[in-house]
Amino acid sequence: MTTPDVSVFGPDIVAKAGELIGRYPESRSALLPMLHLVQSVEGHVSQAGVQFCAEQLSLSNAEVSAVVTFYTMYKRKPCGEHLVSVCTNTLCAVLGGDAIYRRLAEHLGEEGAPLKHEDTAGTPGEQGSITLEHAECLAACDLGPVLQVNYEYYDNQTPESAVELVDALRRGEKPAPTRGAPLTSLRDVELELAGFFPEDEATYRAGVDGPSAAVETLRGAQLAADNGWTAPTMPETPPALPEVEKK
Ligand code: FES
Repeated sequence: MTTPDVSVFGPDIVAKAGELIGRYPESRSALLPMLHLVQSVEGHVSQAGVQFCAEQLSLSNAEVSAVVTFYTMYKRKPCGEHLVSVCTNTLCAVLGGDAIYRRLAEHLGEEGAPLKHEDTAGTPGEQGSITLEHAECLAACDLGPVLQVNYEYYDNQTPESAVELVDALRRGEKPAPTRGAPLTSLRDVELELAGFFPEDEATYRAGVDGPSAAVETLRGAQLAADNGWTAPTMPETPPALPEVEKK
């Protein structure tokens, strides 16, 4: 078997890999961010990416591959400029997530051939290309149905708003997420997930520090405050656990 060519990872990426390794007491601990680093270059983790990480961290290719195939954020096929993740977990699904996914799969696919999970509309990496995926709970059930583009949130979606969003992405626009950081591209985000942020820290932070607690998020706390409800205080000495019957 031939050894994959790692030359796509130039001196800049090698330097960043060295920086990552320096952040941990054990070099192998740098594997997760390093996989995001290689994804920022190729838009997925290729065999060359696996080889690069293995070489940098003195691991075997099998050890690296075992990690890549375990976590869904590491993609094994080239992705589009944007990754659209539609939550189809229970709560979002019943609120319309399944309908949103179905509509996007049909809208982005060919006539009679809707996109499948992790398929890409357009040429991967090129402007306006979009990879569509099912996602498990995105931890925003209060704002469902939700979807993410490059892990930024778009809350309270409908099939129509989702179609408008992907059409804007295909035109090269970057619609503002409902909250959080401004939208960039999947590869830019992968670099941030690896732990490297834009030089202009102040501008970046200004975007990140947007509002992140919606009315729906705080509804329970507000109801409790309005009605004077409080949780019972914890006793100094917790009650003893019941005896377990011996078998
Ligand atoms: S079920 Fe969709 S965010 Fe939790």
